[in-house]
Amino acid sequence: MEEGASVVTPEPLDGAEATVETSLRPRRLAEYIGQSSVKQNLQILLTAAAQRGEAADHVLLYGPPGLGKTTLANIVARELGVNIHTTSGPAIERPGDLAAILTNLEERDVLFIDEIHRLNHSVEEILYPAMEDFGIDVMIGRGPSARSLRLSLKAFTVVGATTRAGRISSPLRDRFGAVYRLDYYDASELATIIERSAGILGVTIEPDAVTILARRGRGTPRVVNRLLRRVRDHAEVTGDGRITAAQAEAAMAAMDIDHEGLDTTDRRLLAAIVQKFGSGPVGGAALAAVIGEEVETIEDVYEPFLLQLGFLDRTPQGRVATERARDHLRGLGYDVPAPRRGERLDAGLWDGITSEGRSGSETPA
Ligand code: ADE
Repeated sequence: MEEGASVVTPEPLDGAEATVETSLRPRRLAEYIGQSSVKQNLQILLTAAAQRGEAADHVLLYGPPGLGKTTLANIVARELGVNIHTTSGPAIERPGDLAAILTNLEERDVLFIDEIHRLNHSVEEILYPAMEDFGIDVMIGRGPSARSLRLSLKAFTVVGATTRAGRISSPLRDRFGAVYRLDYYDASELATIIERSAGILGVTIEPDAVTILARRGRGTPRVVNRLLRRVRDHAEVTGDGRITAAQAEAAMAAMDIDHEGLDTTDRRLLAAIVQKFGSGPVGGAALAAVIGEEVETIEDVYEPFLLQLGFLDRTPQGRVATERARDHLRGLGYDVPAPRRGERLDAGLWDGITSEGRSGSETPA
């Protein structure tokens, strides 16, 4: 993978990076920056559970990768003063695997299930009574003499995480007492996270350099922390270790990350829509084939950020590159042919409805 492509990928990487990443994670709710409404709600949920001395209600966290779902799950356990058992949808292959995990939980423990939308159906069926009544039904014997035996579990809390709320079956979703959506962080929250991380890593960073990283961090703590470590390398190798604005700019240029925080894959995706599909609309499968990425990766990793930036719209007919995206590419020297759907680009009404969180005035007339 190209260097620029990996550095802004919100997906976790393995090995040494995962270790540093873990050291930067806040451990308590009070240290956690951003997501203020989720934090407030969680605080109440956890305090109430602690006061009653009961397991907290099951919590479902959803949103794009890298925004802190795993971090929050760990915070929930720490705030409750209990152990956390971490697993994931694809890791639990058989109902027996889940039964083994469930029967090992202690009173009020947290069971964190990442990618919970990928649980298979037979495993989900075990999870329903476990979440609802803290029990599992096991079959004893075979054939006509087989009978079902209810096994009691200790009360526990499931924290589920998913990038795809829509992929969770409704019976499963209904069993979560609290459902919270994590949103992209704004630049000032990212700046605070960068300053905190720089403090933990023991690196000096100029305020202007913080701003440069925050602006290019795709609204994602995991990305800004990764950018910070790369810029630190750059500053150590080419300077005296202090991260200046010039160092930050140079490192971003070396990683091919542009001023909006787009990497080579983002630009390839937008350029494909603009140049090969007349700015859209184009379906996910066609786009995936042209740029050589999985549809799921495009939908989970790249699109959410481009939508949030106002570079992409999703319409019932497919993805459409907005005039903002076309301007951005033009500014970078790309060939930007006239859109096939000319009427869409001057139809301000349409942009106002579909570009979430963007005011009409930002939409080119
Ligand atoms: N590091 C990663 N995510 C963070 C967050 N939300 N708050 C503080 N530090 C973080």
